[in-house]
Amino acid sequence: MCGIVGYLGSSQAVPYLVSELKCLEYRGYDSAGVAVIEEGKLRILKAAGKLSNLESLLQSAPSGGTIGIGHTRWATHGAPTDLNAHPHTDEDGIIAVVHNGIIENYTDLKDELIAAGCKFSSDTDTEVVAHLVARNYKSGKSMLQSVIEAVRRLKGIYALGIVNVKHPGEIYAVNHHYSLTVGIGDNECFLASDSLAYRQYTNQMIRLEQSEVAVMSTSGIKLFSFDGTESVRTPISSDTFQFVADKAGFKHYLHKEIHEQPNVLRQTLSAYMSDVNLPVALRKSEAVAKNGIPTAGIALSNGQIKGLERIQILACGTAYHAGLIGKYIIEELAGIPVDVEIASECRGRKLLVNDRTLTIAVSQSGETADTLAALKEAGELGSFTLGITNRADSHLAHLTNNLIFTKCGIEVSVAATKTYVAQLISFYLLGIFLAEERGSLPAKQALELKKSLMLIPTLQEQVLATEDAVKDAAIHYKNAQDMVFVGRGFNYPTALEGALKLKELSYIHASGYAAGELKHGPIAVLDEQVPVITVVVPGIVYDKTLSNAQEAKARNAQMIAVAVEGDKAVARIFETVLNIPPVQEFLSPLLTVIPLQLFSYFIAEALGKDVDQPRNLAKSVTVE
Ligand code: F6R
Repeated sequence: MCGIVGYLGSSQAVPYLVSELKCLEYRGYDSAGVAVIEEGKLRILKAAGKLSNLESLLQSAPSGGTIGIGHTRWATHGAPTDLNAHPHTDEDGIIAVVHNGIIENYTDLKDELIAAGCKFSSDTDTEVVAHLVARNYKSGKSMLQSVIEAVRRLKGIYALGIVNVKHPGEIYAVNHHYSLTVGIGDNECFLASDSLAYRQYTNQMIRLEQSEVAVMSTSGIKLFSFDGTESVRTPISSDTFQFVADKAGFKHYLHKEIHEQPNVLRQTLSAYMSDVNLPVALRKSEAVAKNGIPTAGIALSNGQIKGLERIQILACGTAYHAGLIGKYIIEELAGIPVDVEIASECRGRKLLVNDRTLTIAVSQSGETADTLAALKEAGELGSFTLGITNRADSHLAHLTNNLIFTKCGIEVSVAATKTYVAQLISFYLLGIFLAEERGSLPAKQALELKKSLMLIPTLQEQVLATEDAVKDAAIHYKNAQDMVFVGRGFNYPTALEGALKLKELSYIHASGYAAGELKHGPIAVLDEQVPVITVVVPGIVYDKTLSNAQEAKARNAQMIAVAVEGDKAVARIFETVLNIPPVQEFLSPLLTVIPLQLFSYFIAEALGKDVDQPRNLAKSVTVE
């Protein structure tokens, strides 16, 4: 949440800051701002709303300064106004600060600073940092000492970018249990909370460790711990993907990313299962570990895998829904009991894990604070840990040695689509891998399953080819005030995901339920105004799901199904059917989610919503 950027070199800073901010707008987009040091003064420009508002301001008031910091905000403390946008300064305009995270003790610090005569001009927690650093500096301390003494007083987890007008050749970067990187170019350097922001300018980078300050200047980067000890680290070269702003002819990234799903699955499958006759290739090869960049694979020994008594999956939002399906897959294939937890619900609770537990964190961004904190705690309590993420350079990828990378490329649209199906395919592969290691899946069955998985991308293409019919349905139902999504078994999480996609994209209220739960309460909301979307595919829960659908129909709900094409029983009950090709129930979540993604997309588009950047959201949720 929130994006920090910085530039220091011999060129004008503003174009670099804007280009970095554009790459980080996914982290929050309710306001943005820059601070540039120019002719011995701090020049600060900020604007509420999208980055384009700031760009217009910058165009009307160009700046020649060659050093600056910038920020794109997702509001936590204080409304998204011009005043609360970062950077924040002390009252004399000496220090400017941009900040990610939360300063938990800011009210105490603010009271103390006000009592000492400081004048505050925003409602943010960030502003205390500018005043603290300025007071230290004005009392005669060096800038480094001023920063270190200020951050030692802060509680919470955070990252900061700080400039001092009296030090026009330096940027101070601070990381405290957050993510912050410094990019090193030719006589220039960059600051960013995600190295994606400057990847087009350099692939040489230093990732700040926990509780570390970097002093950036054109003569180099100096690193200090919070006790002032200097350390030296060689930059690593990062060859992970660049941000490419290309909609490939689609109107929205979301629509493009939905259509990328077959190829995303092909890439993840070919990375870990190039030959169906061989075991799933998830074992870690030490030979590939290089250059400080985390590598994919599982380093647990066969004995450790055989000894696992329990798996716990931690995730948030869409990744949590993938985890719910992961539970069914792993229990079915590997016979290990699995619990799935909303990561934020693990905080402040006794986690019952030990050295026979594997804790799996699922996070597209690899930066979700709740998920990272819960994984860390489980690891400290003795559990094995594993991460499933789309970002090999993320915080999560540095927290555990057992990693599965989904091969999606950058997901630009805030709503997760392609990374969700890639997380699902990762669970299928992990389930087979664990089963092969534990000997719990007969070889013939494993082979059949792998062959079926290989066919999924083509089946997904068939689903995508039906999108005109999904669009017609979306336009027909777009004025509903509430919608209910139901499914059973493997498609209960699909129903939850369908409801989440509709809410976040169209702002229509939607709830997802296990179909069998309707009669235990939610059925009370049904009448002729409410569309009920039922996910029903032939298999163990098919008949019972159809019975649950009949219960909704008897309450005059508008009936929509996601079902296999040509299903006569479905045609008799539902007025609208979104078709998928025949597929086994066990693999069906890889297909059934697609009509739901398209349905939400077309409704949002028809209602004129901001499809790629829905209101109030951010792609990377880095506050707890
Ligand atoms: C929904 C969505 C969110 C994320 C959640 C976790 O479309 O994108 O619900 O799934 O914020 O994010 P990651 O996967 O980055 O941990």
